[in-house]
Amino acid sequence: MSAGLVQAAYIVAALFFILSLAGLSKQESARAGNYYGIAGMTIALIATIFGPESQGLAWIIVAMVIGGGIGIHYAKKVEMTEMPELVAILHSFVGLAAVLVGYNSYIDAPVIEALNPQEAHAAHVIHLVEVFLGVFIGAVTFTGSIVAFGKLRGVISSSPLNLPHKHKLNLAAIVVSTLLMIYFVKADGSMFALIVMTLIAFAFGYHLVASIGGADMPVVVSMLNSYSGWAAAAAGFMLANDLLIVTGALVGSSGAILSYIMCKAMNRSFISVIAGGFGQEVVISDDVEQGEHRETSAEEVAEMLKDSKSVIITPGYGMAVAQAQYPVHEITEKLRSQGVNVRFGIHPVAGRLPGHMNVLLAEAKVPYDIVLEMDEINDDFDETDTVLVIGANDTVNPAAQEDPNSPIAGMPVLEVWNAKNVIVFKRSMNTGYAGVQNPLFFKENTQMLFGDAKDSVDAISKAL
Ligand code: TAP
Repeated sequence: MSAGLVQAAYIVAALFFILSLAGLSKQESARAGNYYGIAGMTIALIATIFGPESQGLAWIIVAMVIGGGIGIHYAKKVEMTEMPELVAILHSFVGLAAVLVGYNSYIDAPVIEALNPQEAHAAHVIHLVEVFLGVFIGAVTFTGSIVAFGKLRGVISSSPLNLPHKHKLNLAAIVVSTLLMIYFVKADGSMFALIVMTLIAFAFGYHLVASIGGADMPVVVSMLNSYSGWAAAAAGFMLANDLLIVTGALVGSSGAILSYIMCKAMNRSFISVIAGGFGQEVVISDDVEQGEHRETSAEEVAEMLKDSKSVIITPGYGMAVAQAQYPVHEITEKLRSQGVNVRFGIHPVAGRLPGHMNVLLAEAKVPYDIVLEMDEINDDFDETDTVLVIGANDTVNPAAQEDPNSPIAGMPVLEVWNAKNVIVFKRSMNTGYAGVQNPLFFKENTQMLFGDAKDSVDAISKAL
């Protein structure tokens, strides 16, 4: 394949990637968005493998078969609820790849076709800076993503690591790395400076993400997504590969925009989250129970639903764990056929990944038009007879509004307590992801329906 054809293929692939992002932004077009992405990636792979600079075709194919095999195996096996973990570990691979590309490009520097000595020198300096920055971003992404994976999987504690002077440590890592970069360029590429910076960047990435609390994890995953994009773009500069630069920039900027939107949705300062919880007072949550709670049964809930004119269902992580979306759809249809107005209220960070609840409800064929975003439905709770909180906890916690010391203070929540009756489906009085007690459970209009959410909803469906 000639160099010109490869460039043309890269432009077509980049267009497909842009179409893919546009498609993924709406439920109705998300499937098409995925196909555009697959088409773009197929074109990119063919152009790269058969391009003029390609070497060792056999090695590439062996690597693709092994990597592709492992990827397909895990993608098929992974549960929906484990998706953020998978994404986090994949980001760590991008980070590690950028580190390896950086070292490779340093050891085996590309030959600069000398124009004149000054320009050749400038190009050499630019190459050194690319190597240094690429390795730095890659190393931060690598360890940061591994910590995010560990926290999401529960092998590392989700509470924030609070080293003394943590912000000064972060600042010192950046300042020392910058000084090392200056030395690296001045010394015409010092392996020593590169290795020391890599070690600092590994520790920095670890510390940055370890200092962030569980409630901010969704933002961290999308922020690491953004970092992995910039790491790929940096690798693109080192390899002089335009498509890698474009794709990396698309991933980097869309991840940054998503992080920003999520921060707004959770009323968090973007800077404070990415700086590892800067400016957050850490208050140990009070796990002491706050009063008496009342319990109910599936039959009583079925009666209550039959007498209701309007019902709102607010699902959360527990619905995903129990796979209760199918019976939830069943009771929705039964109630709607009896003239009850049933709608869904979706919190932007309900579940464990953006859009988690929307995907589950779409899978169970719940009509899109009764699935509303938090902002669209939050004012309607006081005119609602019954709210079913199915496996949600942090996203319906009034402490976010009432207790300024709560770790989730200021996060917008679904104001379910304004409804006439609230039924909470869960298995125990345990806390949710953020580890904070929920005063909703002790309100006068709240009743608890204990048990696995799927069993409870099935029982209600039967009683209906
Ligand atoms: P959570 O606050 O995590 O609460 C889930 C609740 O479901 C728990 O109280 C749990 O109580 C219950 N549960 C678990 N398994 C169940 C089952 N089989 N049957 C019935 N109930 C079950 O959920 P949420 O309200 O959806 O909030 C999401 C949280 O995750 C937020 O803190 C958010 O910041 C965080 N987070 C979100 C994301 C994204 S992007 N969405 C990513 C990472 C983290 P029991 O154990 O008592 O049953």
